[in-house]
Order: sequence, then C-alpha cells, then structure tokens
Amino acid sequence: MRHFLTTQDWSLEELQAMIDLGRAFRENPMGRQLQGKAVALMFFNPSLRTRSSFDIGTWQLGGHAIVLQPGKDAWGMAFEMGAVMDGDAEEHVKEAARVLSRYVDLIGIRAFPKFQNWQEDRQDKILNAFATYAEVPVFNMETITHPCQELAHMMAVQDRLGEVKKKKYVLTWTWHPKPLNTAVANSSLLISTRFGMDVTLLCPNEEYLLDERYLNQAKANAEATGGSLTVTHDIEEAYTGADVVYAKSWGAIPYFGRWEEELPMRAKLRHFIVDEAKMALTNNALFSHCLPMRRNIKATDAVVDSAQSLIIEEAENRLHAQKGMLCKLIEENAR
Ligand code: CP
Repeated sequence: MRHFLTTQDWSLEELQAMIDLGRAFRENPMGRQLQGKAVALMFFNPSLRTRSSFDIGTWQLGGHAIVLQPGKDAWGMAFEMGAVMDGDAEEHVKEAARVLSRYVDLIGIRAFPKFQNWQEDRQDKILNAFATYAEVPVFNMETITHPCQELAHMMAVQDRLGEVKKKKYVLTWTWHPKPLNTAVANSSLLISTRFGMDVTLLCPNEEYLLDERYLNQAKANAEATGGSLTVTHDIEEAYTGADVVYAKSWGAIPYFGRWEEELPMRAKLRHFIVDEAKMALTNNALFSHCLPMRRNIKATDAVVDSAQSLIIEEAENRLHAQKGMLCKLIEENAR
C-alpha cells in the first residue's frame, strides 16, 4: 500500500503531477474522484487551513470527510506497543486504525511533536503507527514534516517563477516568542532541493540547525537534481540575490525539554525578522510563509502585504494541491 507520509517517497514526476492536477482543480473545482468514498481527518492539534481545505476538498471530489480530535471528541489514544494503558488513553492505535479502516478509504493525520524530547519526536510515532496498522492509505497533515504544505508552496512558486531549477531559494529562521515545530522548515528544504533550486538555509547559529535526517535528505536531493544546499548564519550573504525567501521559526533542537535555557539566546535574535531592508538585497524575491504567522514579528507588514508576497496564494493552493494528492493516492492504490 502506498501512503503519502513524505514527498521523499514519491518521484519528482509524481509530485509535479499532483501539483498540475491541483492547477486543473483550481480552474474546475468539482470532480467525482472520491465519489462514494470517506476520509477520516485525525487532528491531534489545532488547524485552520488544513482542516478546512481537506474537508472542503473531499466534498468537492464527491466524498465525505469526518473530522476527529482524539482526546476531545474521540477517545484519547495510546501508541506504545505493549503499553499498560493505566493513563488517560482509552483506546490503542492498533484498534483505532483498523476500525477506522473499515469505515473510510483514506486517513489523514496531524500530530505535532511534544517538544520535550526530540529523539522521541523524530520517530513520528503517531503517523507511523497509523501507517502500520491502517488497512487504507494514510496521508500526513503535518507531523515532523508537512508534505501538503510543500505541494502548495511549490505550486505558488512555480506559478510566479515558471522553471525554478537553479533559482536562489532562502529558508530563513525568524524570531518568535516561543519555540515552534521544525516541520515546515524540514519540508521547505526537502521540496526546494527536490526541484533543483540553489537552497540556502539561514539560521542564527549551529544550535538552530535542522535535524541531520532532513539536512542529509536535502543534500542528497540537491546532488540528484543539480541544485545545491548551503548553510549560513550571515544574513546579508543569504538574502543577496535571492529569488525566493521562505520564513519560518523553529525551536533549537538541542534545547528540547529545556526551553527556559533557550530563551536568553532567542531573546537576542529579534533582528531575524524579514523586513524591507533585507528584501532590498534580493533579486526582487518572492516572500512566503505557511501561516499562521505573527505580523511584525516574523515579517513586517510591508513585506507581508507586498506584491511579492505569496502567503494567500500558497494557502489557497492547499485546497487544490491536496485534491491532486488525494486523487493520485486513490489512483496508485487502485492499481
Ligand atoms: N499551514 C497550516 O498547516 O495551517 P493550519 O495549521 O491552520 O492547518
């Protein structure tokens, strides 16, 4: 069975086909590809875009979506194998995944890290448990990567730039008052290198480097596509000549579980905001962010509201590109 857990499991041609199908759905939104099918959307964390776009997208394709929030409107769940379930969880994923599979044709999972122990979080246990025990395809709605955001982002960048190969793409860490998930940052490196871009990761220091799994995957992608991956802590060097600036904040991995110790370092990094002066160094770069985003914290109003800002297009594309992905997932598993 093929799942959509990471874009790394799908070929470049398949990813481009999902994006292109998304473009077709943008022109003609309604379809029958999910006629008679049901989709379970499991949200262990909040959402505006992902929940709305998958619910509406399923309906537009003739299917039915059910949203479940374990621990809120569905039973709390345990994931450890051999767990002695004497805590809050009433249900084990081994039953939940198999029971849901008897009702629905696809299962989507949103499950953020717990932010206490990265070695635990990087195992992506909830997503992988559903992929192991479900009898239907599973797709990732953001865990420690965000592959659906990747599709929507690349669709928006291609819409504006056309061919993206060898364009300078900058993923910049930005200041934020609290540590956030690394998922979109990991995904940004994966999709930009996958499409052969010259990618620069700008972060304040070594402590803010992303997990080596994603740095290594991005390096391998770049080698395969003729792109490149550069890491810098120099703001001017990163922004100079950039064609795309993607902003995201994330917590420093060595400080997982010790966030009070990260605070003094983070407090000195407010200048990592995306502003007009930095954007003036670029090649009239496009700006984007996955949303939600704190204005005048991660990026100034002038940047966010500029003609070069892709934020709304990228968010809209979530609906279209995900429909492309769902169609491909159904098609692949029907073979
Ligand atoms: N970008 C994104 O996934 O938005 P939500 O958290 O609102 O779903």
